[in-house]
Amino acid sequence: MTDYAAFSRFYDRIVGDRAEEVARVLGYIEQYRPSATSLLELGCGTGALLEGLAGTLEVTGVDRSPEMLAIAAGRLPSARLVRADMTAFSLAARYDVVICMFDTLNHVPSFPGWRSLFDRVYEHLADDGLFIFDVNTAGRLRGLHGAPCFLEEFDGNIVMMTVEPAQGEPAPREPAGGWLSLWRTQIFERQDNGLFRLHDEQILQLGVPLARIASALTVRFELLTQESLDGSPVSDESDRVYFACRRRPAH
Ligand SMILES: C[S@@+](CC[C@H](N)C(=O)[O-])C[C@H]1O[C@@H](n2cnc3c(N)ncnc32)[C@H](O)[C@@H]1O
Repeated sequence: MTDYAAFSRFYDRIVGDRAEEVARVLGYIEQYRPSATSLLELGCGTGALLEGLAGTLEVTGVDRSPEMLAIAAGRLPSARLVRADMTAFSLAARYDVVICMFDTLNHVPSFPGWRSLFDRVYEHLADDGLFIFDVNTAGRLRGLHGAPCFLEEFDGNIVMMTVEPAQGEPAPREPAGGWLSLWRTQIFERQDNGLFRLHDEQILQLGVPLARIASALTVRFELLTQESLDGSPVSDESDRVYFACRRRPAH
């Protein structure tokens, strides 16, 4: 069973709409690649973001979860949706824009995996194409360790989320190229008989120092902008950091 098998059915209800992310992606496209007509999303999940972008762009999605892709297919019947690992895929096509949003890059649990994803993006981008992604910073992930759990009721069900270090204390040599956190999402789904059915999903997220990300990007991409969620100066303690990069020409 892949990640998100249990979570998929509740994902959109818990996460909410994607209007902010759609607006941010469209803003970067307007600024840096206004002529774009095609877009590929890595880790497209339920297709909520693609749905918001499909009005102006021809959209394609890659995800490894069949359950998430099934929801995306219902939403976007004419989009190309591919079940694949976003660090190792080949679509034999190039796109004006590639995006990887909503902590999806953090889901790749080793830094060599991030480098492989950057290579796949490079291969699938048109000349001067735009790569937009975001990350949960290492500081944000560390700050969530031991924080009170997130608890919410929805539609009579209950969701509980906790974030813990996946390897105990941060390892001194950062073997994965960053720090691994374990996100545990427990959904208590109310049954007709008043009892609750538990769905327990555990997802690893890797937090990587921003300087290391920038240095891995630099061979293949020009960094156009780096912004924090609230517009404050970007640092490893920012909540979420957005990157927009341009593909460098092939040598
Ligand atoms: C946090 S969700 C984000 C979904 C979507 N981008 C959004 O904004 O709603 C992360 C998605 O990435 C997918 N994913 C995680 N690791 C992946 C991998 N190595 N290859 C492909 N998809 C992956 C998961 O299945 C999940 O659908």
